[in-house]
Amino acid sequence: MYGLKLKYAKSSLLIVASLIAIILAFSYLPHALLAIVGGLVFILGVSYALGHNAWKQTKDIGSRPQRAAGARPQRAAGARPQRGERKSGGRKPRAEARASRKVEILHPEETVTLSAEREAAEIEDVFSSLDNQLVGLVPVKKKVEEIASLLLVDRVRHRFGLDAPRPNLHMCFTGDPGTGKTTVALQMADLLFRLGYLEKGHLVHAMRDDLVGEFIGHTAPKTKRTLERAMGGVLFIDEAYYLYRAGDSKDYGQECIDILLQVMENDRDKLVVILAGYKDRMDVFFESNPGMSSRIAHHLDFAPYKLDELVAIGRAMLDRSAYYLSADAEMAFRDYLTLRMGQPRFANARSVRNELERTRLRHAFRLAAEPELSRSKDDLMRLEAADILASPLFALAEPVSAIEESARRPPR
Ligand SMILES: Nc1ncnc2c1ncn2[C@@H]1O[C@H](COP(=O)(O)OP(=O)(O)OP(=O)(O)O)[C@@H](O)[C@H]1O
Ligand SMILES: [Mg+2]
Repeated sequence: MYGLKLKYAKSSLLIVASLIAIILAFSYLPHALLAIVGGLVFILGVSYALGHNAWKQTKDIGSRPQRAAGARPQRAAGARPQRGERKSGGRKPRAEARASRKVEILHPEETVTLSAEREAAEIEDVFSSLDNQLVGLVPVKKKVEEIASLLLVDRVRHRFGLDAPRPNLHMCFTGDPGTGKTTVALQMADLLFRLGYLEKGHLVHAMRDDLVGEFIGHTAPKTKRTLERAMGGVLFIDEAYYLYRAGDSKDYGQECIDILLQVMENDRDKLVVILAGYKDRMDVFFESNPGMSSRIAHHLDFAPYKLDELVAIGRAMLDRSAYYLSADAEMAFRDYLTLRMGQPRFANARSVRNELERTRLRHAFRLAAEPELSRSKDDLMRLEAADILASPLFALAEPVSAIEESARRPPR
């Protein structure tokens, strides 16, 4: 705070002094000499500003952290997420302390176990978090395990001095909306950080608008700014196919793709790019951009959830917030989902989450409508069929089950 005040005081003094100097010069110096002095002062000022800027940039580049071979990188302490940037969760300060530890090359006769290595990297937390947060998604979880195994073995090889190029880690997550792509990407960022493949492990979420400009000279700085923010972490490009507009020669998307391709190749040890979107559109995008396709090492496909999975997801979500569905309510919820799945803009687990939020609202409203009644703890936790059947979706659709009918029947 005082530094700021001092800065303003200094600037004000400088301005006052300059004004006095100009007034004095006007009064006492001939105008030709004044023009020469003014010109010299201007040139000196501009040279100083340019020189100072260049010196600052050189200093910044020089002080950027470099990843030593085999050494665990460090997360920038206290780094706060910026716009579009998300912290990957569950990271402990112990991981930071370990990050700075020097890796000693093991003797060829020594042995290690991968379980000890897993424990040392604290990646078990990531897998339990994946399991707790996400119902089902077995093939995706298996793929994450496979990537983790590759990196774990790579890490142990490093410890024995077996140097190998860092594996390519750029990925593509395909799937319908609400199938868990962003959630898994956050866990992936955390996993890569813990295993030492990312310096910070944060995730920057970007879409076309964050990368592509609207006029000449706008795209490169925009793309570079986003890349700069993502350095040391994951750049998650949602609906990546919108970067490219086939047949539109005035589009600047290609300029952005060219920069991305370059950075994905040259800075692959500093940044992991995850492209996400619908599978069919991603396939078309890769066909038109073979350079991008060849840089993607891992494809994870997020299948749409089946009815039973959606119900289980709903149950898990409610459980986390100390609510539950009565037996009738669960049947009504199944009916709701059956209808909702056939509707436009259905977004899998996100639709489940949204509907359950509305159900909680109706439950609260139902209780509040009879404020004189005594309520038990169970009353406050239990969602009833009526809370679900009050959804406007049922009013629009044909009755779907007997339960709906029975719940609508007035109590005898
Ligand atoms: N298998 C699952 N189990 C429990 N919750 C889930 C599951 N999949 C997704 N969710 C939840 O659904 C919501 C949406 O998930 P997420 O944002 O990861 O989906 P997405 O695939 O990135 O969607 P979009 O393509 O629309 O961006 C989140 O609250 C997430 O926790
Ligand atoms: Mg998403």
